[in-house]
Amino acid sequence: MNMNATISTPVAAPSSNISFLRDVIIGLRADFKSLPSKYFYDDEGDLLFQQIMACRDYYLFDCELEIFENSSGGIADLFEKWDGAFDLIELGAGDATKTIYLLKELLKRRLDFTYLPIDISGHIIQGLEQSLPDQLTGLKLNAVHGEYFESLEKVCRTSSRPRAILFLGANIGNMPPSETVDFCHRLRNCLTAGDMVIVVFDLKKNPEQIRKAYDDDDGWTKKFNLNLLKRINKELGADFEVESFGHYCNYSPENGSCSSYLVALKDMKVSIAGQSFVFKRDECIWTETSHKYTLEEINRLADTTGFSPRRQFEDSRKWFVDVAWITV
Ligand SMILES: C[S@@+](CC[C@H](N)C(=O)[O-])C[C@H]1O[C@@H](n2cnc3c(N)ncnc32)[C@H](O)[C@@H]1O
Repeated sequence: MNMNATISTPVAAPSSNISFLRDVIIGLRADFKSLPSKYFYDDEGDLLFQQIMACRDYYLFDCELEIFENSSGGIADLFEKWDGAFDLIELGAGDATKTIYLLKELLKRRLDFTYLPIDISGHIIQGLEQSLPDQLTGLKLNAVHGEYFESLEKVCRTSSRPRAILFLGANIGNMPPSETVDFCHRLRNCLTAGDMVIVVFDLKKNPEQIRKAYDDDDGWTKKFNLNLLKRINKELGADFEVESFGHYCNYSPENGSCSSYLVALKDMKVSIAGQSFVFKRDECIWTETSHKYTLEEINRLADTTGFSPRRQFEDSRKWFVDVAWITV
């Protein structure tokens, strides 16, 4: 481990199997069954997501990596306005592969900042604590294990320094547009005027290109989706026959949403913590939606939720955009 790096004690995660079980039961008791996508990321899900990022059909990773490889200097310029120390907080940091380019640039400029990656996956947080200090000499790191807002509000209560929030990976697209507006309002309420938000959006493009990213030829997205049932079996003692479920994905160019489902391949009865759930053959469980945007929709979102668009960085195909908003 690099001894020049500073790590403070991670904030403990309040999450438990009780809320996992509650969310699963609520989702599977609904008229149209669903499971929350935030539970994709157990140890196995984290590894499968890394395979997805490396696969040919998943253009999202390549587009965003290109932006960070080529534009980290331009993004870092935005931080020069702060003379003193600031906090760089990342929501759903994952393995920070792309963020590392920006962190290197900020360290090269000797800017005084603490990096606070927030993630719901304990495995991810442990991995960041182990790997980042070795890669980034002098990085001040305070990794936070927990949910986006619970953790962000905790962090904001304990520091009054200027803040920049990173929300990468087009994670914002995992919310339906109405929830996205609420999310941006809530984010705005955690911040003060002059704070910065850097968000990455996946742009509307050829529908087949989009659909294939969520149903890749190598089957990684299918394995990732099915892993949710494996996790429920492992952590909640359920008895899903995982191989009796398929993966289906559909992109609607009309509303810009790409949705993934698990499909029952036969009639089944599944027991979860003593409760019984019936699945009819061909019945679907909605697991995730990824929403795609136009630049006009993105600017409107900023204007209506208390932010002012400052700069944007696109990849060479203009499939992805990294926007910097200032809190007004
Ligand atoms: C799609 S990955 C993206 C990771 C990274 N931002 C990137 O661009 O590669 C989503 C990450 O967000 C985390 N995550 C998902 N829902 C979350 C939530 N509600 N609160 C905190 N972290 C969450 C997951 O554990 C995962 O590491």
